[in-house]
Amino acid sequence: MTHPTVRISDIGQYLGQTVTIRGWLYNKRSSGKLQFLQVRDGSNIVQCVIFKGDVSEDLFNAADKLSQESSLIVTGVVKEDKRSPLGFELGVSDLQILHVPAHEYPISPKDHGIAFLLDHRHLWLRSKRQNAILKIRSELIKAIRDYFDQKDFVCLDAPIFTPNACEGTSTLFETDYFGDKAYLTQSGQLYMEAGAMAFGKVYCFGPTFRAEKSKTRRHLTEFWMVEPEVAFMNIEEDMALAENFLQEVVGRVLETKKEELEILERDTKFLQNTIKGNFPRVSYTDAVAQLQKLGSDIKWGDDFGGDDETILTKEYDRPIIVHHFPTAFKAFYMKENQHDPKVCESMDILAPEGYGEIIGGGERETSLETLEKKIKEHDLPKEAFEWYLDLRKYGSVPHAGFGLGLERLVTWVCGLHHVRETIPFPRMMERLKP
Ligand code: 4AD
Ligand code: MG
Repeated sequence: MTHPTVRISDIGQYLGQTVTIRGWLYNKRSSGKLQFLQVRDGSNIVQCVIFKGDVSEDLFNAADKLSQESSLIVTGVVKEDKRSPLGFELGVSDLQILHVPAHEYPISPKDHGIAFLLDHRHLWLRSKRQNAILKIRSELIKAIRDYFDQKDFVCLDAPIFTPNACEGTSTLFETDYFGDKAYLTQSGQLYMEAGAMAFGKVYCFGPTFRAEKSKTRRHLTEFWMVEPEVAFMNIEEDMALAENFLQEVVGRVLETKKEELEILERDTKFLQNTIKGNFPRVSYTDAVAQLQKLGSDIKWGDDFGGDDETILTKEYDRPIIVHHFPTAFKAFYMKENQHDPKVCESMDILAPEGYGEIIGGGERETSLETLEKKIKEHDLPKEAFEWYLDLRKYGSVPHAGFGLGLERLVTWVCGLHHVRETIPFPRMMERLKP
């Protein structure tokens, strides 16, 4: 007789019935006549109980020899188990063993160093915590797309090979493009500006690259960024959009990923605060004064260091929006403030609890003359930007947008120390494998 083959996360719907699950042995223990197999299938983990009297002796003995990550097909009756997180267990009636590893599985439940785990990332993905993190990432990706799709944005994919820098020339990955130089994109923004003039509101969501030579807990060399861009939007509206967007996507995870947040032992207090009420707006100038009081040696005109972001955001119980940064250290496309060109119409959203910047954006410079001047000042090759300057020659309008780094968001939502666990296969200065 065949029984329905189900995902572990669904077995509650089959209480009292016999079902088949397919997966891998996560852990096991035995006590005489009973064996308890923790089986995972990617959707969840279920305890499968084998009672000696219920199966053949051969099968009982074979089960006893299973090692971690053996692959299995298990059939049994679904029973309630109030003590397990899933709420159910399986009383095994049949077990098919597909593969028993010849070698001991490298990742045991004991503690391993981070370098070892990253070297074994292809296997580490199977562990409970990594599973929870990457499911939250997956949910955030969906929530991000849903947010902009429901608001009628057009999804416009930006190119990965680009002829020009966008975020400064110091972090460009150069590659040979049939004898010419090309760069891996640092941001899709300039293309989204073209898109905003064509479609009104657009977004791109894809991998971006920065040759970050610094080893910090916030930096990857390859990360995913979502970048909305809207015609006729000013800096105030840009901040409001970013705030509402962040509230929606964080709200989604709080609603749908409770179990994963529990696995990560995430205290969700700050995430709960995030979805209620407004984010404090703090000007860069005020933030510098506040940082100085907190003991930082930052001076007006310096960019925030990682430590500055950490101490500043620990002062708040939800994300904050820092705006009007000095023009001097921001990208060439930032619009200068009308009254004080020393600052620009820029904004960053910093996540609380010491996490720091997760969003960067602002209003774009609309004046052709100013942009030409800025391109020269930033020592950028004008030819590569001719197409971009066309956007200011044909129906230039005020516009704004922002970029959210997906991995920074996942790091904060999951309450992790380092960004490296939030992407399936992290790329950092000293890591290209696996
Ligand atoms: O602040 P950034 O450099 O802004 C831009 O690229 C704009 N062109 C975006 C726009 O307005 N369309 O980067 C945006 C975000 C940061 O706030 C951060 O979350 C993330 O991208 N980010 C990184 N994440 C991981 N590793 C890195 N090396 C990152 N660099 C930036
Ligand atoms: Mg930034």
